[in-house]
Amino acid sequence: MLISNRIKDLRVSPIRKLIPYTEQCENKGINVIKLNIGQPDIETPKEFFDAINNFKDKTIAYSHSRGSKEFIESTIKYYKKLGIEYEYKEIIATQGASEALMFVMMAVCNANESIITPEPFYANYRTFSDMVSVDILPITTYAKEGFKLPKYEDFKKFVKPHTKAILLSNPNNPTGRVYSEEELQTVIKIAEEFDLFIISDEVYREFNYGKTPFVSFAKYKEVEDRLILIDSISKRYSCCGARIGNIASKNKILIEALMKLSQSRLSAATLELAGASGLIDVPESYLKTTLEKYRERKDVLFNRLKSIEGVHCNEPEGAFYAIVKLPVDDAEKFVIWMLENISVNGNTLLVTPIKDFYVSEDLGKDEVRVSYCVGPDEINKAMDVLEIALREYNNKDSN
Ligand SMILES: Cc1ncc(COP(=O)(O)O)c(C=O)c1O
Repeated sequence: MLISNRIKDLRVSPIRKLIPYTEQCENKGINVIKLNIGQPDIETPKEFFDAINNFKDKTIAYSHSRGSKEFIESTIKYYKKLGIEYEYKEIIATQGASEALMFVMMAVCNANESIITPEPFYANYRTFSDMVSVDILPITTYAKEGFKLPKYEDFKKFVKPHTKAILLSNPNNPTGRVYSEEELQTVIKIAEEFDLFIISDEVYREFNYGKTPFVSFAKYKEVEDRLILIDSISKRYSCCGARIGNIASKNKILIEALMKLSQSRLSAATLELAGASGLIDVPESYLKTTLEKYRERKDVLFNRLKSIEGVHCNEPEGAFYAIVKLPVDDAEKFVIWMLENISVNGNTLLVTPIKDFYVSEDLGKDEVRVSYCVGPDEINKAMDVLEIALREYNNKDSN
């Protein structure tokens, strides 16, 4: 019996593929500081648990395929607070932004049609697109330009006859860029000219530290029919394991298509939808405090990285990741070597090599993504490991 080529050819998640090496370290009693994933350590708001405790039904039934009434209504209220208007029938609850992205790719593209997205990109964009036989057309963005999108004339060249959409993670995972209004306007102009959907993945909306204010595409009336908003409670409220996200769109035909997909998987998780509905009561101070914590973490990380010889990193403006260029030929080889050979006061470090965050061959070979979802002390310990590891790695060849 054979499994499908579709699955055989699927890339192993670059974020998770080094886990076996970390298990070996842990078996030897070495603590692995995991700056490889975007798993926040901040406590989930108590309002989430309160709402679950108040769940009164005796049976955990399926919810409506669109999502429970409470969840949709609380999502409408959340958007309203941001000055964004969506109606009931314009929102669909999903199992995280992950399911939302898969559904949207399926609903927007036929097999072998394409979606444009800037690279480096969140690696699962490619996993999802491969699963549904959709091509990712990358627009390479560069650290030396602050990962800025190209100007209109250059951007335009990336649109091909089978292109259906532009997908943007804003604030961006992994680059930390928050796109300016000028960049958003370029995307809008291209989308209008070539009749494309705009898929705006705004799961890091609240995480913005730089000078550029975050602006949602939902603020632009002129593209409301072509905009598909992707959202999630995973990062905003440290609720990754709840697996609740949503799609919002004013395009009726698209929503009908997405409802067919939602109905085929019956419903999102009923109890977690109840918990997520409770999040509307979380005081504003929770997000403010969370943002300040991340800002401090970002500052600690960035200042330490700046001081390590041969390391280059742009100061992240948003989300909670930094792309770091290392003075090594092959970042993956280095990270494995670090896990196997370096322990500083009982700690070693896992970060994510990012060549698979690019479609273009040979890009990102010497780069890693570092997340700052842990406290300043952990970040400092992690940077002690990185500094020593780089020194020893580069000395070993010269000895
Ligand atoms: C840019 C981006 N989009 C979507 C997701 C998926 O989020 P969820 O946990 O809601 O599935 C992630 C997760 O890290 C992400 O970084």
